[in-house]
Amino acid sequence: MIVVERVEELRARCDEARGAGKSVGLVPTMGFFHAGHRSLMGAARQATDFLVVTLFVNPTQFGPNEDLAAYPRDLEGDAAAAEAERVDVLFVPSVDEMYPHGAPRTVVHVAGLTEGLCGAARPVHFDGVTTVVTKLFSIVGPSTAFFGRKDFQQLAVIRRMTADLDLPVDVRGCPLVREPDGVAMSSRNAYLDDDERIAARVLSRALREAGDRVLAGERRSDVIEAGVRDLVAAQPLVALEYVEVRDARTLEPRDALDGEVVLAVAAQVGRARLIDNVVLRVDGSHVEVDLGVPAGERGTRSVP
Ligand code: PAJ
Repeated sequence: MIVVERVEELRARCDEARGAGKSVGLVPTMGFFHAGHRSLMGAARQATDFLVVTLFVNPTQFGPNEDLAAYPRDLEGDAAAAEAERVDVLFVPSVDEMYPHGAPRTVVHVAGLTEGLCGAARPVHFDGVTTVVTKLFSIVGPSTAFFGRKDFQQLAVIRRMTADLDLPVDVRGCPLVREPDGVAMSSRNAYLDDDERIAARVLSRALREAGDRVLAGERRSDVIEAGVRDLVAAQPLVALEYVEVRDARTLEPRDALDGEVVLAVAAQVGRARLIDNVVLRVDGSHVEVDLGVPAGERGTRSVP
């Protein structure tokens, strides 16, 4: 694996790989790798010939009062993890390298899909994400890019952006990876103290119980959402920001569960803002509950 800091060098190496007939895969990240990141690298390694992982804590997707300065970093550990996943290039640009002219004046904005859910509390976030991902697509020129379903709204926004702009990239969604106790893996879990880490379990537990209610026949979104709200309210260390049933593709609100929907939550736990979701596929009386996979699993098996 080689570590590249310069845009021009990365572009040249990707050109060379494509010239040799290789398909280029891209996994964009902000680092502090855990099994969720590594599962994306594993999927990308299998599906593409030349694998680029980018590690850039992108300042433009953080709001003024968010955790940009505190965001956890461990370049040495990340490089070792990427090497173990047989990554070809780890791209670690500086802020100046990515934004040599200062904050970009050209911004990619996906209307609608970015307005609710996390966009309500983080108004500049998705413009920062879509703009930097467009830049990375432009520099790397991947045939396939891999994103986690943990960040469900981000994935939907990037899919729509790619379609709207005819970007020649196959955007692939990968399963949400969980800790053994059910908590969704996140670099931000590093902010939690022991009590907060235990309290954080209530989010995945509430989503699992919601899934059980749907399996038992409940189809009303407000009843499902209220069930999550009640469970989380009993845990004083967890302040729920939202719980919502949305269409899995358009992210539009849904009064009733039918077809493919996502039940998404966000909550503040100590210093950490955590998100989680479950995808529910409802076809008459047939229901599929997709909570993701436990760390270490590469298949599609759902967490029980
Ligand atoms: P980051 O939070 O580092 O996440 C990088 C990728 O890992 C994203 O696609 C995210 O969905 C995925 N991921 C994180 N936790 C996961 C988990 N528990 N299971 C499965 N996948 C998981 O998302 C970003 O960085 C940034 O917004 C980025 C896209 C890199 C743009 O700056």
